[in-house]
Amino acid sequence: MMSVAGIMNAPMNLSQQDQWKKAAAEAAAKLVESGMVVGLGTGSTAAFLVSALGRRMTEENLRITAIPTSAGTAEQARTLNLPLTTFADHTEIDLTIDGADEVLLGPLYLIKGHGGALLREKIVAAASKRMAVIADETKIVARLGSLVSVPVEVVPYGWQATQKKLTQLECKPALRLGADKKPYVTDGGHYILDCAFGPMEDPKEIAHHLDHVVGVVEHGLFLRYASEAFIGGSAGVKVFKKES
Ligand code: A5P
Repeated sequence: MMSVAGIMNAPMNLSQQDQWKKAAAEAAAKLVESGMVVGLGTGSTAAFLVSALGRRMTEENLRITAIPTSAGTAEQARTLNLPLTTFADHTEIDLTIDGADEVLLGPLYLIKGHGGALLREKIVAAASKRMAVIADETKIVARLGSLVSVPVEVVPYGWQATQKKLTQLECKPALRLGADKKPYVTDGGHYILDCAFGPMEDPKEIAHHLDHVVGVVEHGLFLRYASEAFIGGSAGVKVFKKES
């Protein structure tokens, strides 16, 4: 573990948590080198990353191509003239940097998907040679499931039957709704069932069960992707490597 950046000079209009997110994102942005294909995450922390990369392009002539994990991230990248590419041209990504809803230090297990982009995020993570997670210290947990539910992306057809199957895994699955009170629809056209498991003793076993429920497209347990974590907090940004 090492400290790589402080949070001094952060703009006054950001909350403390946002300053920590920004510091983590800016530290991780330094991993990016010209010529790389970069996976861009989704969420408020990833938005700080995209801004930092846009700035590096202007100030340092950084030259990259990027694959976004959501329509929202793609839109932000376009406004910064950050060149985007697709899997049609690149099936392998050099480095992905993405946020998380919970981080278990050590194995660097994550819960992701509260921003609704878990399917694309997992496809991008799985295609990446390296994945750095960026988060503030409030996301660190001793057990996954302590703070948030596990988002599970499901096919709309028969979602009630899928929900019943998920209930049999001893969780409480709730259909995610949008601001209009209708089911939230992902970029892939699916629904999300937020499954409250509580603190998990064995996330691998839960992931294995979720992998085998008919109607489930993907779930927000990311157990084998992150190689390092940049965590912003009161002591600056700390970098944690995956311990095997
Ligand atoms: C998006 O689907 C999520 O996986 C986000 O990466 C996660 O929710 C973290 O979001 P924030 O950076 O906004 O906390």
